Amino acid sequence: MRVLVTGGAGFIGGAVCEQLAARGDDLVVLDSLAAHKEPPERLPDSAELIVGDLADDAAVRRAVDGVDAVCHQAARVGLGVDFDDVADYVADNDGGTANLLRALWRRSFTGRLVVASSMVVYGEGRYRCPRHGDVRAEARREADLDAARFEPRCPDCGADLAWAPVTEGAPLDPRNVYAATKVHTEHLSFLYGRESGANVCALRYHNVYGPHMPRDTPYAGVASIFRSALEAGKAPRVFEDGAQTRDFVHVRDVARANVLALDSDWTGACNVASGEPHSVGDMAEALADGFTDAPRPVVTGEYRLGDVRHVVASPELAAEAIGFRAETGFAEGMTAFATDPLR
Ligand SMILES: NC(=O)c1ccc[n+]([C@@H]2O[C@H](COP(=O)([O-])OP(=O)(O)OC[C@H]3O[C@@H](n4cnc5c(N)ncnc54)[C@H](O)[C@@H]3O)[C@@H](O)[C@H]2O)c1
Ligand SMILES: [Zn+2]
Repeated sequence: MRVLVTGGAGFIGGAVCEQLAARGDDLVVLDSLAAHKEPPERLPDSAELIVGDLADDAAVRRAVDGVDAVCHQAARVGLGVDFDDVADYVADNDGGTANLLRALWRRSFTGRLVVASSMVVYGEGRYRCPRHGDVRAEARREADLDAARFEPRCPDCGADLAWAPVTEGAPLDPRNVYAATKVHTEHLSFLYGRESGANVCALRYHNVYGPHMPRDTPYAGVASIFRSALEAGKAPRVFEDGAQTRDFVHVRDVARANVLALDSDWTGACNVASGEPHSVGDMAEALADGFTDAPRPVVTGEYRLGDVRHVVASPELAAEAIGFRAETGFAEGMTAFATDPLR
């Protein structure tokens, strides 16, 4: 099978390319290398690399030529700095996806399309009130956070809410610009599927970590920020009380989910998660365990308005729909991550 991997020089796209090349697929990679200081080293020799932006019509046209399937990973990632980033995120992610889909349309492509989405489409995770059952968590109040009251509260009775696993039917509630572009990427891709007859699958990755993760930048994930701190001999600074819950999923598992999705014809969006939730505090401890003589994590009580408290995925639909179950355990993956190469 000839597969186009957009963003194939990146953290996740690179891992997808490795697995596809290992089983003999023919690869085309379209990547602007915008997120790279050095040329990518780990692209399989057999892959054809087109250095170009999703906005570049000629490059995109070349990239889609003759492919049987498309795995769309390229995006401007992370939270950005502030709202001033809005036009860049929309141009790269919405505009870039639109340009890719138009090129596929002009080629009458009806093959498999798999797109990278994210848990950020949900905003806050799912919550239950002991008295009112499933309720929607409102944004947390500054006064509560200042008083170290971190759990979101029930809009009806004010009680602290408990988290529950988010299923794919949860309302989409993007809370930042990047998240809004991921929702739009899904919607545009599904529209393409309807109009063209192609089968489209969106994979909502939870917190991905593992080898070749980008280093500590304003755009990096928390695992990489802690890893960079530990490497510099500094204690990871854990915000709030450290009990924020996430699902950390290894990049090899995420890549395998992409391969499974490419091989299936299931249409829809599913979580890609380990199914083994952990607190951010636990993650910092597990990572510190992978270092000898590293300072232990410090829980600071600091907070960032707009951070979500708990987002925990239900992994059930992915298992049913594309046969995906994560294989890398948390302790094993985090210990290895202490020494994995970073980008
Ligand atoms: N890392 C995570 O935890 C995570 C979580 C949820 C979703 N995702 C999604 O997974 C995908 C891959 O992310 P990643 O973590 O591997 O990031 P990454 O930055 O390592 O990879 C993205 C790649 O896309 C390329 N790229 C970016 N904009 C481009 C453009 N306009 N044209 C061509 N190439 C472009 C970059 O050069 C880079 O190689 C993204 O769509 C991201 O939104 C990542
Ligand atoms: Zn209540």
